[in-house]
Amino acid sequence: MNFIFATPEQAITGSLVVPVFKDDLCALSGLSAEAQIKTLIEQEQISTKAGVVTPFFNAEQPLILVGAGKREKFSENELLKLVQNLAVTLKESQAQLSLLVDVLVPEKRDISWTLTQITQQWLSSLYSYDITKSEKTPVTKTELLVFITENTNDAAVTLGQAIANGMNVTKQLGDLPSNICTPTYLAKFAAKLAEQHSEFEIEVLEETDMEALGMGSFLSVSKGSDEAAKLIVLQYQGGEANQAPHVLVGKGLTFDSGGISLKPGAGMEEMKYDMGGAAAVLGTMHVLSELKPALNVIAIIAAAENMPSARASKPGDVVTSMSGKTIEIINTDAEGRLVLADALTYAERFNPASVVDIATLTGAVIVGLGVHPTAVYANDDNLSSELLAAGNESWDRGWPMPLWDDYAAEITSPFADLRNTGSIARAGGSITAAMFLKAFAEKYTWAHLDIAGTAWQGSKGATGRPVPMLTQYLLAKQAE
Ligand code: BES
Ligand code: MN
Ligand code: ZN
Repeated sequence: MNFIFATPEQAITGSLVVPVFKDDLCALSGLSAEAQIKTLIEQEQISTKAGVVTPFFNAEQPLILVGAGKREKFSENELLKLVQNLAVTLKESQAQLSLLVDVLVPEKRDISWTLTQITQQWLSSLYSYDITKSEKTPVTKTELLVFITENTNDAAVTLGQAIANGMNVTKQLGDLPSNICTPTYLAKFAAKLAEQHSEFEIEVLEETDMEALGMGSFLSVSKGSDEAAKLIVLQYQGGEANQAPHVLVGKGLTFDSGGISLKPGAGMEEMKYDMGGAAAVLGTMHVLSELKPALNVIAIIAAAENMPSARASKPGDVVTSMSGKTIEIINTDAEGRLVLADALTYAERFNPASVVDIATLTGAVIVGLGVHPTAVYANDDNLSSELLAAGNESWDRGWPMPLWDDYAAEITSPFADLRNTGSIARAGGSITAAMFLKAFAEKYTWAHLDIAGTAWQGSKGATGRPVPMLTQYLLAKQAE
């Protein structure tokens, strides 16, 4: 699908999409059918409710009216809903569309922001999972979207396209079942990206390599599974060789059964999404492959499967991590922090400018924040602010969480340096998990994103988050 620009004076291609506000019909002015449409709106034959799409063919130009609600209530969320409805409603009927965009800029935003969001939302709304279905999704008819505005901005469109393509990669990896999307599959996926783009280099550490490095924490998780664990290291070099890299660490549990601390059966199928952090990191690397920013980024993906078996770790077992710290495994279902601990230690060797880990880490974060914000933790206030600002700019928002020393006592053990769950039953579960990670991120500037609430939405599937936040964060680093 292509996106191009035209000025209001130029000939219109395909149907003209006209946003209509309840209290502001200015976008209709000059159209031959203006009076007729105004009457139909007054008679409530055409809805101005946000996102309602009404085709109107009784004019020189085929029109598609799209409700935009009340002008003063038109915010970021309304814009996205409107675009999503347009994309999905028209994808099987309209090959070419022209969209009046100047009226769609929300308060506090500008036209370039709006163009990026429309492009991004349009393309990511067209994502549909069909890999393991015998009936394939019908091809999208929409080939061309023309933005009608004087404010041409190709870079804004390119950014939206790249983010959407990355989000769609993330969604597809997430939606794939765990019998297909294994740690080996993730490694091959990363290798393909590296093959296709010369800026990338890949290294995959096998279990034997991890043993040699002393990654007893990581390996304690994959022990019970027949799927080989992989530590995938994908490097993107867009900057100078001596420029310190930004590291993204992804939790890649291709299935989390809980292990010996087995999860209840109801809803367990959703634990195929426990590689959402890894998928978001790979999606963000995909964005870099298109935008090629001048900076260095390293993805580290801790990929494993958590299964019960006679060889699996048991509650009470004590393991030694690569950092030398020992860990008492209280609950084998708190496995994400165990694989991340060694991945975070491994990140030290790159002398990173920053490290951000992304993980579907805890059910507790959903209790605390619900499913709208990503929880943002950091051992550095600047990094925290940067991520929150990136989330606000890309409209993929986060919310700050505490990492106070007060919580530290809750992850100590009489039998090891740390325990892998908080000692006060269920109290602040997302925070104690983050405190655990913090103990392995002492040597650099670090943040942790708990995306358990935002990476997927039940049967609606993966969301592609937080690819927009991560992309925005990295692009801002490039500008520094
Ligand atoms: N992958 C889960 C977290 C999760 C649960 C994400 C539900 C999304 C929805 C994680 O590995 C886990 O099991 N965490 C436990 C930790 C507990 C045992 C301390 C949890 O959140 O219940
Ligand atoms: Mn778990
Ligand atoms: Zn998990």
